Amino acid sequence: MSIKSLIRTIPDYPKKGIMFRDITTLFADAEGLREVVDSLAGEFQDQNIDVIAGIEARGFIVGPAVALALGVGFVPIRKKGKLPAKTISVEYDLEYGSDIVEIHLDAIKPGQRVLILDDLIATGGTALAAIELVKKAGGIPVCCGFIIDLPDLGGADRIRAAGIPVFNLVEFE
Ligand code: PRP
Ligand code: ADE
Repeated sequence: MSIKSLIRTIPDYPKKGIMFRDITTLFADAEGLREVVDSLAGEFQDQNIDVIAGIEARGFIVGPAVALALGVGFVPIRKKGKLPAKTISVEYDLEYGSDIVEIHLDAIKPGQRVLILDDLIATGGTALAAIELVKKAGGIPVCCGFIIDLPDLGGADRIRAAGIPVFNLVEFE
């Protein structure tokens, strides 16, 4: 089965009008999981990535798997108040609400080339906040990678307009 057909759609979750793209069904499938990791690792293997920054929560599933495949480390970008040491924070808007994300102040070494990974890009608010965090932490955001892009919401265009390349495996209109 294709990656796209393994992603389940839940209408009206978490709010009426949202078509929620659920990747748990994709990750539960051994071949689907392998395909996702191989495709993302293949795309980035020649880009001299030093570390992957994964965005809570679903970037914590895909991020470490791709980091292992690339032979690099993983650092978490978490929602506010979850990281124990000194942090940098950025507030951002969501398709359904707003939130704050944080990274440990010392998570990235100066000049490290960082690949930002998450399951999905919608409005791009989360990924733009992650880019800002990586820059503030002293890293170079090389690219943002996603399993899913929702192009109608314009997030990937916003990231590209900010000068950062975007890569995704599938799209949903
Ligand atoms: C989802 C998704 C991305 C973000 C994309 O996470 O996993 O992180 O939304 O939306 P955007 O492009 O409009 O910013 P969510 O905020 O639902 O958090 P969760 O993974 O902790 O449930
Ligand atoms: N995050 C933001 N929009 C989403 C959607 N439509 N499906 C899954 N996660 C999302």
